[in-house]
Amino acid sequence: MADPIRIALAGLGTVGTGVVKMVQTHAQMLTARAGRAIEITAVSARSRSKDRGVDLSGYVWEDDPVALARRDDVDILIEVMGGEDGPAKAAVETALKNGKHVITANKAMLAHHGQALAELAEANGAALRFEAAVAGGIPCVKALTEGLAGNQITRVMGVMNGTCNYILTQMEDTGADYADVLKDAQELGYAEADPAFDVGGIDAAHKLALLSATAFGTRVDFAGVKTEGIDKITLTDIQHAAHMGYAVKLLGVARMNEDGLEQRMQPCLVPHSSPLGQLDGVTNMVVFEGDFVGQCVFSGPGAGEGATASAIMGDVMDIARGLNIPAFGVPATDLEAADLSASGATAAYYLRLTLADRPGTFAEAARILGEHDISIDRMRQYDHAAVEAPVTIVTHAAVPEHLHRALAAIDASEVSLATPVALRIEAL
Ligand SMILES: NC(=O)c1ccc[n+]([C@@H]2O[C@H](COP(=O)([O-])OP(=O)(O)OC[C@H]3O[C@@H](n4cnc5c(N)ncnc54)[C@H](OP(=O)(O)O)[C@@H]3O)[C@@H](O)[C@H]2O)c1
Repeated sequence: MADPIRIALAGLGTVGTGVVKMVQTHAQMLTARAGRAIEITAVSARSRSKDRGVDLSGYVWEDDPVALARRDDVDILIEVMGGEDGPAKAAVETALKNGKHVITANKAMLAHHGQALAELAEANGAALRFEAAVAGGIPCVKALTEGLAGNQITRVMGVMNGTCNYILTQMEDTGADYADVLKDAQELGYAEADPAFDVGGIDAAHKLALLSATAFGTRVDFAGVKTEGIDKITLTDIQHAAHMGYAVKLLGVARMNEDGLEQRMQPCLVPHSSPLGQLDGVTNMVVFEGDFVGQCVFSGPGAGEGATASAIMGDVMDIARGLNIPAFGVPATDLEAADLSASGATAAYYLRLTLADRPGTFAEAARILGEHDISIDRMRQYDHAAVEAPVTIVTHAAVPEHLHRALAAIDASEVSLATPVALRIEAL
């Protein structure tokens, strides 16, 4: 049997303790599958005395994660501390410079430094793997780099933030407002005390940037992801969308258009009957479309001790078996920066206009839409008070820029009493 593969674990929080439990629970099975023992040699965290509910007595303790990363008795550094710079990045760079493989769950670090770290890994003959950084337990990075490697990927979509999906589905199911559901989510431990990273779409945009680079063979471009959170989504829009057969999701979409790469993380409408439309609670879903395979849908837990440990151990097993696939599927030095799509693909839109309740106002709004090449597919008007007439419209496919100009014109007109709401409808 080959020599054991030796792991250093930097971080013993939710993900790190999950990895310890998995290695300890499945030691025999992992050895049989890898053809060699999988051993944790040394660990690091901030507090040595904290009770983590796992037995760490067999492992060397290092206070400094950088010292951990350069130990001679280590083949793989698993970085699960978090933080886009600081000790996490320093430890990862040290490990790679010393020719050690790195596995990380740290999407923030990779979204900002993925290219440089992938190049450093390759220059030193080491692997850099990050399955746990995207959609938790769903093996979506492996799906792209291995199972779907023969396809040209045409579109990547995903609901990749469980907190946001929980909030949106709870609002629809219970009729509660955003602020109330967010408070519940915080009490249940689904949302952080400072939820800005989640509800602002940033966490999910980090993940989309990584998937997009892997799918399209481009350099990670987090700054090129148009990001919008769910904090402005109202119960009214969720309910009106539901009446028209749609669910509101914080949806990531990446696709290569004729004029370049489009990457968006924003609230979108999807058909209620579709797998994405039916996705409830904190579960994640990732959808890939390939030119030969068609559409593949993956769903599963996007976070938590077990799910992330599972993803990390998948990467450990690959390395133990001698598989070293480039981090983003092609050698990092061959990756090129993508031209970003200026306009974005055409799409149907859900619109909510608040018009003055008097004759001719809808005709005027429809005239402005028509003038900008926006054609109406369906419209509804709900019960309303005397002064304001809320009108909900679903358009036919429209050029995003035309739509935004039309809405600006409606907003500036005297028929509109409130800024129009527009949500993209993603065709599935
Ligand atoms: N939680 C999830 O479900 C999940 C899912 C996907 C990806 N991730 C990613 O996985 C990473 C870890 O997440 P987590 O939820 O496990 O975080 P966590 O529970 O907060 O754990 C972080 C760990 O890192 C240690 N640490 C922090 N700063 C350190 C430093 N300067 N030196 C040494 N150790 C340090 C902490 O030590 P102490 O315990 O002593 O404070 C703790 O053990 C993050 O990048 C996160 O984005 C998490």
